[in-house]
Amino acid sequence: MANPKEVAGRAAAEHVETGMVVGLGTGSTVYFTLLRLAERIRAERLSITGVPTSRDTEEKARGLGIPLSELAAHERIDLTIDGADEIDPRFDMIKGGGGALLREKVVAAMSRKEIIVVGKEKVVGQLGSTFPLPVEVVPFAEPHVARVLRRLGAEPTLRRAPGGAVFVTDNHNHILDARFPSGIASARGLQSELDGTPGVVACGLFVGLADKLIIGHEDGSTDVRDRQPPREV
Ligand code: 5RP
Repeated sequence: MANPKEVAGRAAAEHVETGMVVGLGTGSTVYFTLLRLAERIRAERLSITGVPTSRDTEEKARGLGIPLSELAAHERIDLTIDGADEIDPRFDMIKGGGGALLREKVVAAMSRKEIIVVGKEKVVGQLGSTFPLPVEVVPFAEPHVARVLRRLGAEPTLRRAPGGAVFVTDNHNHILDARFPSGIASARGLQSELDGTPGVVACGLFVGLADKLIIGHEDGSTDVRDRQPPREV
């Protein structure tokens, strides 16, 4: 039986072409993309420049010998491959389970094309049905943002690291994981509400940022779906 994350992650790496600047997402599915890219760099002399979306990915990619550069060195990114916590039929997503939502969102916004790699449990009819929405907040503003989230119908919890200490993002902020017991009715509406709340650095709603979805299956096959209509870049 194949690992769906491995199947999807490796398949996405085949879309990378020599000369590309590649956004490297974060998480356990994208890790398999990194492994496959490293294989292709060695075997085919694939020449790419990777832009990592987190310290974690940066360390892993560097350890695998994938050439990296700073985001500031690029105006656009040719292709980004990233995971998701939930993705709906419109290709809107919840991301940030790994805490890298801010950098992932910036890199996605700069990308000509974004491929999302998931197992089938991440594909949902309505966002918020299985996963809380991560909201990255400036620590000072945390109580205020938590109140706003409650007013919006959510149950926010401050994210903690495995040892119990408050989780701190790569940008020195905190994360409120907001569970929406009735799901999220309008991703775009909620995103604009949260983006307009002082103290919110980024919310984990990714609206209109994914172009292609690769779903890995246990039998080793993939479902590949393209966003309809295609995004204007
Ligand atoms: C990190 C993310 C990840 O892409 C998301 O959590 C999926 O992770 P995984 O591939 O490990 O299931 O958004 O901030």
